[in-house]
Parts: sequence; structure tokens; C-alpha cells
Amino acid sequence: MINVDLNEALGFIEDSEFEEAIDLANNAFTKVVDGTGPGNDWLGWRRILAEPNDAELDRIARHAAKIREDADVFIVCGIGGSFTGAKAIIEALNLPFNSSGPEILFAGHHMSGRYLEQLMKYLQTPKSDGEPKSVYLNVISKSGSTLETALAFRTIRKWMHEFYDDVKDRIIATTGETGGVLNKIIDEEGYSKYIIPEDIGGRYSVLTPVGLLPISVGGIDIQTLYYGAVSEYEHLENDTETVLNYSAFRYLMHKKGVALDVIGSFEPELMGFAYWTQQLLGESEGKEGMGLFPAVAGYSTDLHSIGQMIQQGQRNMMETLFVVDSPISKFSVPKVNSDTDQLGYLDGKLFHEINKSAQQGTVQAHLEGGVPVVKIIIEKLNAQQLGQLIYFYELMTAVYVYMLNVNPFNQPGVENYKQAMYRLLGKK
Ligand code: PA5
Repeated sequence: MINVDLNEALGFIEDSEFEEAIDLANNAFTKVVDGTGPGNDWLGWRRILAEPNDAELDRIARHAAKIREDADVFIVCGIGGSFTGAKAIIEALNLPFNSSGPEILFAGHHMSGRYLEQLMKYLQTPKSDGEPKSVYLNVISKSGSTLETALAFRTIRKWMHEFYDDVKDRIIATTGETGGVLNKIIDEEGYSKYIIPEDIGGRYSVLTPVGLLPISVGGIDIQTLYYGAVSEYEHLENDTETVLNYSAFRYLMHKKGVALDVIGSFEPELMGFAYWTQQLLGESEGKEGMGLFPAVAGYSTDLHSIGQMIQQGQRNMMETLFVVDSPISKFSVPKVNSDTDQLGYLDGKLFHEINKSAQQGTVQAHLEGGVPVVKIIIEKLNAQQLGQLIYFYELMTAVYVYMLNVNPFNQPGVENYKQAMYRLLGKK
């Protein structure tokens, strides 16, 4: 289960105000459970854990295994909630430099012509044995019309149609059940399709085919991930302490005028996850003039950058740290014959231990600098615990945003840039 450590945070608030905030958090939790809050037709991310669909998990895992056998490159084409979750889990669990299975690339999450041009060149470059690359494409868009994704999809699929005879098996679409341009294309071309349930919004969709197919193609056991989330769901239905504590604390910080939640980790493997929480929180709480800006920091890298600001800049922030208790690797500092580099005192020490000391020192320093730090702790970095962490964050986000009296499930502000952009592009 997910552990929330508030030891370095509670000193910033009074006991009595925390108790009141816990009561508010409890009311917000009841709204989530009873479906009586705003946006209550978007609670499918809970429904799918209450009634797991094993047949669909199985279909996805079997399809992914076939893709893994045949593909050299698997492209995930989507933006926002249609790609951040898959990217987070794949980056967390796959080994850097040395992953087995197809190379997983992302497209459709921005509009860089240079990126797409180079991607197309890369796809068309034969492998070292001279054979052409075997490319699969998963286009993911609930609305089926998001411009970034649609443009990348058009570009890649045009080439795939010209290049592959079996293109229908290579393009997989994940979208809403009906409607949208993408559904028309699927009907015309006969691509295989996965459905995003109507009652689940993009940023809450990582445990639907949106995230599960790419994660499974990444070689990660989606059953374990999914049932990790189910176990956290079942746990938090009966024991809400961790989720209420963290949402109550965030709420009090917001109320006291704190503007930023710096979301960081000393495990680079969890940076993708931090970006997933940034998107989840940002689109959920940032409306009606509300919200803590979710800023991501990767440590210890960013201690040599925005660390300075966290330590001594404007005092308007709190910090959330993702912590993994057990060592992710047993790699240690190599022993060498001379001590010219003056690192002999670290001979043979695990990098994990050194990193832990950096973390403890940083928490202490930030605390002394007036920044409350909340630690969200998992014991091990594995699929089961990441599944737990996903649900913990989804529920915490819904509860905390309800405490602000805001709808956590819409994103009306996202339309503004689209309308201005379409006007400039002359879209009718
Ligand atoms: O959370 C959300 O709803 C958004 O971030 C969407 O996921 C994002 O805008 C992409 O939308 P779509 O899947 O419709 O292309």
C-alpha cells in the first residue's frame, strides 16, 4: 500500500486546522464514492477497478505479445492523457539502454515538423542487417480529432499504407466507442480498435487500453499493474487515512496561499510518473482561479538548477517527493587503487545509499528553508506498486479538487488555445 509521510510537513499547520481539513476531505471522499459531486458521470476510473474486465486485459496482453514478436518499432501517437501514463510506466520499469522488445517511440504530442521529419527518416532507414524496420502504430485519441495527434497520424499512416501490404494489422486505434473523425477512418480502413469508456477522461485513462496496450508492448505485466491498482482501490475504500491526510494537507497549503507543489524524486525512473501527476493535477485543479501549480523537479540533477530557488527563492511552495524504499539497483562505487579523486570514503558504497543520503539532506535543507515536504513512499519499484500509486493519485486528485469546490474531470481552458489556433489556421 502507498505510504504518506507528513513528518516534515505537519509543523507548518495547526492540529485543529488539520482536523477540520480532514473532515472536509472526508466529505469530498463521500462525494466521490456516492457520485454526488460535479462531473459525476466521469467516475469510470473507479468502476473499472470495482469490476475488472479480465477478458479485455487478456485480449490486450495477447495482442501486445504478438506485436512484441514482430515489431522493431512501436509508435504511441497521442497527447495529454493519451500518452503520459504509458510513458510514465514504461520509463519507470524498463531498463535504460537495454530494453528487450520493440523500441517504443512517441509522436503526436507536439507539432514539431523537424521531429516528424526525422522520425519518418528513421522509420524508413533499414536495420543494420539491411532489412526494413517492422513498424506498428497505436493512435490514441478519445475525441479522435486532437490536431497534434491527427497530424502525426496522417503523416505516419500515409507512409505505412505505401510501404506495408499488411498495414491493417499494423495500425491500432484507441478511441471513443462512436463518433469523431478517427472512428470514420477506422470504419473505412478496418484497423483494429480499442474503446475508451465514455465515463473515463483522458488523464484518468492509463488503466484502460489507452495505457495498457503500449505498456504491455513495453513488456510490462499489465495484469500485475492493474491488480495493484485494484488492491489499492479496495484498501482505500475501507481505510482512507493516507488519501485524506495528503489531500487535507494540500488543501491547507492552497488555503494559506502556497502557489506551487514541486513534485520531485531522487529516482530518475520516476520522472515520467511525476509528469503524469503534473498533467493529472494540472488539468484537474487549475480552474476558476484555483490550484497549486504542479512543478516537476528531478533530483539530484535539479538541485544544481531550480534547487537554488526551492531553497531560497520566494516562499510560496510545498514539495512532494516520490520515494522508493528498497534499492532499485545494487550497483556500488568501484574500488580503485589510488585516492587521487578523494572518493575513497565512498568505496564500495551502494549508489542507493548515497542517493538516500542526498535525499535526507535535501529534505532537511528544504525544511530549514521553509518548504514543507510530503513523502509518497512505495517499497519497491515494480508493476504492482506503480498500479497502487496510479489509483492513489487518481483518488487523491478527485478528493482534493472536490475540496476546492471544483470539477476535477473537465478541462474547459484547454479549448481556448485550440479556438485561437484554429482561427489563425483558417479552419472552418
Ligand atoms: O485529460 C484529458 O482529457 C486531456 O489531457 C486529453 O487526454 C488530451 O487533451 C487528449 O485528448 P484526446 O484523447 O481526445 O486526443
